[in-house]
Amino acid sequence: MLSADQEKQNSFQRRICEGDLVIVYERHDAMKPVTVRAGSELQNRFGVFKHSDWIGMPFGCKVLSNKGSFVYLLAPTPQLWTLVLSHRTQILYIADISFVVSFLEVVPGCVVLESGTGSGSLTTSLARAVAPFGHVYTFDFHEQRAASAREDFERNGLTRFITVSVRDTQGEGFPEEFCGKADSVFLDLPQPWLAVPSSGKMLKPDGVLCSFSPCIEQVQRSCEALTTNFTDVRTFEVLLRTYEVRDVKFGSLGGDGSGGAVRKPPCKRKNRPSSDEENNGSMERSTSTVMAKPCPETRGHTGFLTFARLRCS
Ligand SMILES: C[S@@+](CC[C@H](N)C(=O)[O-])C[C@H]1O[C@@H](n2cnc3c(N)ncnc32)[C@H](O)[C@@H]1O
Repeated sequence: MLSADQEKQNSFQRRICEGDLVIVYERHDAMKPVTVRAGSELQNRFGVFKHSDWIGMPFGCKVLSNKGSFVYLLAPTPQLWTLVLSHRTQILYIADISFVVSFLEVVPGCVVLESGTGSGSLTTSLARAVAPFGHVYTFDFHEQRAASAREDFERNGLTRFITVSVRDTQGEGFPEEFCGKADSVFLDLPQPWLAVPSSGKMLKPDGVLCSFSPCIEQVQRSCEALTTNFTDVRTFEVLLRTYEVRDVKFGSLGGDGSGGAVRKPPCKRKNRPSSDEENNGSMERSTSTVMAKPCPETRGHTGFLTFARLRCS
């Protein structure tokens, strides 16, 4: 994650220090954010891990518990943060986030306005996209949510790129000081159409707005409001299909039904074992391969993304 501290900016090139945020990775669906403190310990089903053993190790390393089990310590990227953050609201996930960042043309130096902040899932990716010269101004009318988001951004070293303010953007719109200064505006509000007129005023000529809504009725009302000042209005639904990749054993049928065991495949010419394998008899013992299958818990509908470009007068 990009950090406000210049020395820490590329976390992948440095070693874990006291106070760093790391993502403790057990499996793709079992991760936890932990702030490293020399005297602290992490306890989980694998045993006890001492933070002091982690200090000085490179990000991505494998660390052992007192029982000899292991976890990985990953650098906190926005993608991982979205999977581990504490859900104070519904959040945007990486499929929608990637689409938003790309379609809003968010690049280093951009000024982005966002409302509501919610759990800060999208904000974190927006901040990485605008860094190191740009800024995200995010607004939520819920004081406690805004405060918690601020703490999370601080923990991720992103405060230099994000300003969180408490404001009712549906009632008051965005602050006048941003008039004509925003490259893009993102809305995740219950009644986004109420914030559309103000969003139009904030955008630079040719700037792009995106509104996320879970229901098509909200999309219809937003599109009606957008026709006044915007052009190129388009709505998308992003569906992501995730595949699980795992080692499977040959030789037994069915297994636990999870795809963990399969019959040995016919030996096609291109799969023939090397002469070395035939010689040492490992053909008989070669018992596993890598398989990919769609994840049963793949997320379906999250919401609709409506994009529109400010009409130049
Ligand atoms: C679904 S959450 C946003 C989630 C966020 N996009 C994320 O990825 O974490 C919607 C947020 O809008 C805020 N909100 C609702 N009405 C608002 C209003 N009138 N002005 C400002 N924020 C508002 C709520 O407090 C809530 O935090």
